[in-house]
Amino acid sequence: MNILILGAGGREHALAWKLRQSKKVKNIFIAPGNAGTLTVGKNLPVDSTDFDEIKRICIENMIDLVIVGSEAPLVAGIVDYFHNDHAICDIDIIGPDKTGAQLEGSKAFAKTFMNKYNIPTAAHFTVNADNLEAGIEFLKQQQSPYVLKANGLAAGKGVLIIQDLDEAVSELKLMLEGKFGSASSQVVIEQFLDGIELSVFVLTDGISYKILPTAKDYKRIGEGDSGLNTGGMGAVSPVIFADRQFMQKVESEIIIPTLDGFKKENIHYIGFVFIGLMNVDGQPYVIEYNVRLGDPEAECIIPRINSDFSDLMKATGNGTLSDIELEIDERFAVTIMLVSGGYPGEFLRNKSITGINNTKDCVVFHAGTSMDIETETIKSVGGRVIAVTAKDYRMEGARSKALINAEKIMFEGRYFRRDIGLDLIHYAVKK
Ligand code: AMP
Ligand code: GLY
Repeated sequence: MNILILGAGGREHALAWKLRQSKKVKNIFIAPGNAGTLTVGKNLPVDSTDFDEIKRICIENMIDLVIVGSEAPLVAGIVDYFHNDHAICDIDIIGPDKTGAQLEGSKAFAKTFMNKYNIPTAAHFTVNADNLEAGIEFLKQQQSPYVLKANGLAAGKGVLIIQDLDEAVSELKLMLEGKFGSASSQVVIEQFLDGIELSVFVLTDGISYKILPTAKDYKRIGEGDSGLNTGGMGAVSPVIFADRQFMQKVESEIIIPTLDGFKKENIHYIGFVFIGLMNVDGQPYVIEYNVRLGDPEAECIIPRINSDFSDLMKATGNGTLSDIELEIDERFAVTIMLVSGGYPGEFLRNKSITGINNTKDCVVFHAGTSMDIETETIKSVGGRVIAVTAKDYRMEGARSKALINAEKIMFEGRYFRRDIGLDLIHYAVKK
């Protein structure tokens, strides 16, 4: 089997790394990839939203299966593009169609879907330039803090949580005036949910489904969840408070109604459903859907999947997922993200990375890295640079292995959080 993975981050390196372990996989191509994916496959310099070029490389390399890493090509309709082109319509492509991708591409679409299928989520009101007064009325009925969300994709920055009502009203106006460009021409105002977050990942072939390991992502740049939001500074899996009873609620109240909703709406959904949840006193509420694996959650959960990943992907593509036995490593995984100095603001780039070869008892996934061919050095090219994942039967053990190894990898200005997973250890002690 020849596989093409679209994307350039740690998630795509983790997918390629896992697929490389399968004897059934012949060639792995990553477009555009990074210095890490080079070690497990072949990088192709193609942008993941350039569909015509993707078609060309699929034909040239006799690709059997495409895995779409990030949301942008899905929201732009890559799955429909494949289905509608007779030259590539036989290639299995992992991801939902354009309508399904709206679950991530439009917060208003996702909220309407959840309400229609009685999926628990925060109360909301959708505002645009025409119903601003009604939106302000809705805001006034909520209690502080106030949650404002840009409707469209805003690179993870489109959600504001504001303590003061007057400030929330003026931010709402700024958003409608284009604070996040066209992404905030519509704004979803939400009731604030007070709880603890986790992510649940479901893989579906459009008929049946498998629940993948749970994970918790750490979004803020600073320790103790302080400072600006980032793409994700680390993750842990499994999430201790997502016990059997909680997960049964998630399955019956959220996963099954979501997948039934896809069928009723004629959404063609083959791939990963990433459900961002808030646990409010033991009750799960959906905060958001994403239509792909998370990053860095993928770097944390993929190393816990023991099953042959090519079998899993193939079965997802051809509708035989129910035949597969999903085997999960019971050990905890902790992932720590090493980022560039300055991130998530303007950050340092092009710094030489050393020390990766000194790591042990962990897996190192590359994110924003590039191989400098002339000097044969690995350079930083992105905000998030390297993810280090370690496993252990004790979460504290996985944490300390990940920390020791993160410490060994050096580049000028590198920063990482030392408290990934610590809140869950404290949570377990309190219980
Ligand atoms: P989203 O992009 O929708 O995942 O929102 C980003 C982050 O904002 C989430 O990960 C939560 O931490 C927070 N958030 C979003 N919606 C709510 C809500 N209704 N109540 C509390 N926190 C929220
Ligand atoms: N880590 C969050 C995301 O991938 O959206």
